[in-house]
Amino acid sequence: MVEREDIPALDVRYVWHPFTQAGTAGPALEIVSGKGAWLHAADGRNILDLISSWWVTLHGHAHPAIAGAVAEQAKRLEHVMFAGFTHAPAARLASRLAKLLPPELTRVFYSDNGSTAVEVALKIAWQYWHNKGETKRKRFLAFSKGYHGDTLGAMSVGSSTGFYTPFDDLVLPVTFLPFPATWEGDNGAPEKEEEALAKIDTVLANESGGEVAAVIIEPLVQGAGGMRMCRPEFLRSLCGRLREAEVLIIFDEVMTGFGRTGSMFACDRAEVAPDIICLAKGLTGGFLPLAVTICSEKIHNAFLGGDFGSAFAHGHSFTANPLGCTAALASLDLFENDSTLERVAAMEDLHRRRMRDLSRLSNVHNTRVMGSIAAFDLEGGSKEYGSSWAQHLHEAFLSRGLLVRPLGNVVYLMPPYCIGEDDLHHAYDEIFEVVSHLQAG
Ligand SMILES: Cc1ncc(COP(=O)(O)O)c(C=O)c1O
Repeated sequence: MVEREDIPALDVRYVWHPFTQAGTAGPALEIVSGKGAWLHAADGRNILDLISSWWVTLHGHAHPAIAGAVAEQAKRLEHVMFAGFTHAPAARLASRLAKLLPPELTRVFYSDNGSTAVEVALKIAWQYWHNKGETKRKRFLAFSKGYHGDTLGAMSVGSSTGFYTPFDDLVLPVTFLPFPATWEGDNGAPEKEEEALAKIDTVLANESGGEVAAVIIEPLVQGAGGMRMCRPEFLRSLCGRLREAEVLIIFDEVMTGFGRTGSMFACDRAEVAPDIICLAKGLTGGFLPLAVTICSEKIHNAFLGGDFGSAFAHGHSFTANPLGCTAALASLDLFENDSTLERVAAMEDLHRRRMRDLSRLSNVHNTRVMGSIAAFDLEGGSKEYGSSWAQHLHEAFLSRGLLVRPLGNVVYLMPPYCIGEDDLHHAYDEIFEVVSHLQAG
C-alpha cells in the first residue's frame, strides 16, 4: 500500500501563507475537495463555506459545468502570449463583459488578480493624463478604510486600512475621503453623506483639486475594511461632483462584481457608470486567477498614436489565459441559465430576516445587508484585523463546521449563490448560539 503523504507536515515545513502570522497561527487545515457550498477536509470534517473562500466562489466549489469547460479548453489550447495574438475565449469574454456593463465601458484589459486589475486602472488613469499633456494631474483620491489589494499602487490607495504600516514610506501620496458607512435602520445616513460630500467639495475646490488624476472607490460595499455599506444616493452625488471636476472615476468591483450586491454589478444597483471598472475574484466563478480592467473608448483613444511611446506598456505572462477566460464564459452561462440573480435575491431576503433576529442580541450592532452580503459589528473584543479574538471566533465557528472569518470585530457572511436555504438557516442558528454565549459570558 502506498503511504499517504503527510501534507500538513510538508505545509508547515515549506509553505508561507498569505495574511498569516506564522508565529501564532496553528497548522493550516487540509482541504481535499469541495462540492456546492461545502468543503471537505482531510480529517473527514465537512465545512460549510459561508464566505465563498475569499469571496471568489459563485456557483459552488468544483462546479461541473465550469470544470468541464476548462478541461475541454485545456486539451485544445492552454496558453498563448497575448501581444500580437488573440484567441476565441478572450475575444468572446471581452465582448460579453462589454455587453453586460454600462455602455461606456467597452475596452477590456486582462490581468491576473484583483490587485493587478487595480494597478492597471491606476496606471491607465495616470498615463491617460500624461498622453493628453495634462501633466499636473498626479494625485489619486481614495476612501478611508477602502481596500484595493497588496501591490504598491493598490497599497497606496488602501493605506488607510492600517494593513501596510511597514510600507508607510514607500506608498504614493493619496488624499483620503470619508466613506459614509450606514446600516439597516440608520436614520443618520443623509447627514453622514452630506458631511462626506462637503469634505469632498472642499478637496475638489482647493488648489490641488486640479491635480487629481482619478478617484478609486469600492462602490456600495467596502469589503476588507469591514463590510461597510453606503447608499446608492451617495455614489450618485459623488460621481456628479467628480464629473464636473473632470476627475476619472475608478470603480473597484473586484469584490462587488458578479452579483454580490444583488445586481450583476454594484454600478447597476447604484445606476451610475464609472470611467474604469476593475473585476476579478468572481470573474471565473472562483476557478482560476483572472482579472479585467475595463475602460471607456475615450480613455482607450488617448493611448493610440504612431509610436510606442503613447502605448500602455503593461502586461503579464498569463494575460488573458485561455483557461481563465473559458472558466469566466462558463460562469456567465450559469448566470444566464441558472436563475443566479434570483437566488441572490432570495438570499438577500433570508439574510435580512435572520439579521433581524441577531440584532436582538445586545452585543450585535449595525446589522447590514446587501445582496448576498450580510454583516454586523460584534461588541466585546478587539477591532484589529488578525486579533486573537477574531481568530478565536473563527475557530469557534469552525468547530461547528462553519467557515466564517471575522474582519476584526465584524462578522460577515458572503456565501456561494448555490447554498441551500436549510444550510443557511442552520448557519444562522449556529451563529446565534455562538454570539449569545459571548453575550452571556
Ligand atoms: C475590493 C478589492 N479590490 C482588490 C482586491 C485584491 O484582489 P486580489 O486579492 O485578487 O489581489 C480585493 C481583495 O480582497 C478586494 O476586495
